[in-house]
Amino acid sequence: MSDRLHLNLFTMSAVEHVSPGSWTYPGDRSPEYTDTEYWTEVARTAERGGFDAVFFADVRGVYDVYGDDRDVAIERAVQTPASDPQLVVPAMAAATEHLGFTVTRSTTYTHPYQLAREFSTLDHLTDGRIAINVVTSYLESAAENLGLDERMEKEARYDRADEFLDVCYALWEESWADGAVERDREAGRYTDPAKVDAIDHEGEYFSVPGPHGCEPSPQRTPVVYQAGSSDRGREFAAANAEAVFASQPTEEGVREYVTDVTERAAAYGRDPESLKFFIGVVPVVGETQALAEAKHDEYTRHVDVEATLALLSGFLDMDLSELDPDQKVEHIETDAIQGTMNAFTKAQPNRNWTVREVAEFCGLGTTSPTLVGTPELIADELAYWHEEVGVDGFNVKEVVRPDSLTDFVDLVVPELRERGLVPPADADPPGGTLRERLLGEGQSRLRSDHPGVGGAAGRPSE
Ligand SMILES: Cc1cc2nc3c(=O)[nH]c(=O)nc-3n(C[C@H](O)[C@H](O)[C@H](O)COP(=O)(O)O)c2cc1C
Repeated sequence: MSDRLHLNLFTMSAVEHVSPGSWTYPGDRSPEYTDTEYWTEVARTAERGGFDAVFFADVRGVYDVYGDDRDVAIERAVQTPASDPQLVVPAMAAATEHLGFTVTRSTTYTHPYQLAREFSTLDHLTDGRIAINVVTSYLESAAENLGLDERMEKEARYDRADEFLDVCYALWEESWADGAVERDREAGRYTDPAKVDAIDHEGEYFSVPGPHGCEPSPQRTPVVYQAGSSDRGREFAAANAEAVFASQPTEEGVREYVTDVTERAAAYGRDPESLKFFIGVVPVVGETQALAEAKHDEYTRHVDVEATLALLSGFLDMDLSELDPDQKVEHIETDAIQGTMNAFTKAQPNRNWTVREVAEFCGLGTTSPTLVGTPELIADELAYWHEEVGVDGFNVKEVVRPDSLTDFVDLVVPELRERGLVPPADADPPGGTLRERLLGEGQSRLRSDHPGVGGAAGRPSE
């Protein structure tokens, strides 16, 4: 476990991310997501608050599962409209010095050769401050828009994701040897061709001879994030993720998840200490407990319950409009996001959540715990998760933008700094890259025990 806390701002380049209805809160600036100035301001605030990175969620397709119709999602801005987060990162990077950026990309709807090029470019332009959150996508409407008749089944999506990363690792790690780039003006030789190799990948989903078209970037492979809860999702995290997003809302659920993924990672020959576990939290902070609770009441009044149901219907691939709001939520194995289902069933077997209760709970930040209180109380809670449960860091979820971030930075971070859980404002981070921030100085490159190093990603020994 890290000796300090890691912090990501969990956001989306959209009007609404995971708090449906909050954009109607007076003064909320979410509709400015189309402005460069909005994002550069967010980046500067996050950097001032000692955040490691801004983590951009992203989806393809619209939320049209609820009522078998997209109107609620479109009317209430349920993750639509949204724009491409990758394109705003260079502007945010230019406005900051140390802040990292995690960009969500789907292995189902892009090609590894193309993606490897995009992330090498971003890693160059940001001097090694880039991470990728690898997802397999869950909306049927995305499949239809991106060349498939229907969404691939989850097993096949993860098969493709495995092969996808094998190709990327080969391009990022193997294709260009260290020292290939000479930049020898006198000899007129930029690159030594003997040090640039084809990768000759022939697989079930991809045929990529290579070589990679970009010269090696500071981290080569971007820091790999993943958030999967199904059996295959956990296996994928264990093989690939350097930072894992555990979405369970309860302590028992998080403990079980961390232990399970850690054991699976050890079976791949990885040092389990090198995996960093993050959970989502929704802080609602006030100078006094009464002020924090008043703010929470006000935020709750702006939750759009029907829009939340539309969002959850997409997460679960289950039309919640067909259910009685007072009906108990029964566990299903879903082809969409298993973690959302598990959060209210498997993770809490003794509590019978109704559809209405789930929607009300999820209206502020979906499945993550909401922490309401003074800076001291919130710091106590974060310290507990860190020290007692073994979580390395937090994805801080917003309700109102940018107030959720500025409240956290101005009120909670000083308290965390006081306790030594976040480095002082004037401390330089260890090294310049995002991986060094997570793993320590000198560790800009993928660790040698990571399955992505040294050829096709290894599978665990039986
Ligand atoms: C906390 C969390 C955040 C996620 N963020 C995204 C996202 O931004 N975009 C996306 O397409 N999928 C996202 N997902 C979906 C997962 O990465 C994964 O593809 C999906 O959960 C299906 O796999 P699973 O059933 O193994 O969890 C997220 C899932 C979780 C639990």
